Amino acid sequence: MPHIFSHLRHETLESETRLDTQPAASIITGMGLKGTELILDVGAGIGYVSLPLARDFQQSTVFSMDLQHEMSMLLHSRIMETGLDNVSGITGTVHTIPFQPGSMDVVFMVNVFHELEDLPKAMSEIRRILRPGGTFWVVDFQKINGSFGPPIEERFSPVEVEQLVKDASPSMSLAQRHEHHEWYQLGFRRD
Ligand SMILES: C[S@@+](CC[C@H](N)C(=O)[O-])C[C@H]1O[C@@H](n2cnc3c(N)ncnc32)[C@H](O)[C@@H]1O
Repeated sequence: MPHIFSHLRHETLESETRLDTQPAASIITGMGLKGTELILDVGAGIGYVSLPLARDFQQSTVFSMDLQHEMSMLLHSRIMETGLDNVSGITGTVHTIPFQPGSMDVVFMVNVFHELEDLPKAMSEIRRILRPGGTFWVVDFQKINGSFGPPIEERFSPVEVEQLVKDASPSMSLAQRHEHHEWYQLGFRRD
């Protein structure tokens, strides 16, 4: 059973180490957005990526979903503080996503893939809500003893993620790959 990152540790999602090592701006740039997309952030936590994304692309609509109600409540307060009206927080699981088929242009998950309980179900849901040609981004930790993140035995390499996504959802193909020392970003295109 994968380990879920607890809301009690939410402050570490914005630690100095993380800000230096995995800046949200780098993740956002890596997605190459037009700026008008409908976007779902799966396992959004306290909005480390969702909030700057919504601020930088105010013509986009960002839905930030997290499994833990407490995390969503923290995110909700932060959204209220920003005054942004193009981002909203939802409590929910990737295993049953509360959106219509083909409704999203982009789905992304940052440091969440290694926590998923049922990958085939998660991929089937992501595929269902993505429009044809839509993109699914996985950002996760390199399989090394890094300066932050889960123990090495809980991590997947980019090659493992590529294979797992392909096995779970053959209609998703790897379209882009950005490698960093401590993390990677893979972009899959839905047929
Ligand atoms: C390590 S945190 C990352 C949070 C955020 N993406 C970030 O980069 O700061 C992982 C988050 O994924 C959420 N999560 C884990 N499994 C999930 C699922 N099945 N559906 C939705 N969220 C999930 C957890 O509740 C946790 O908040």
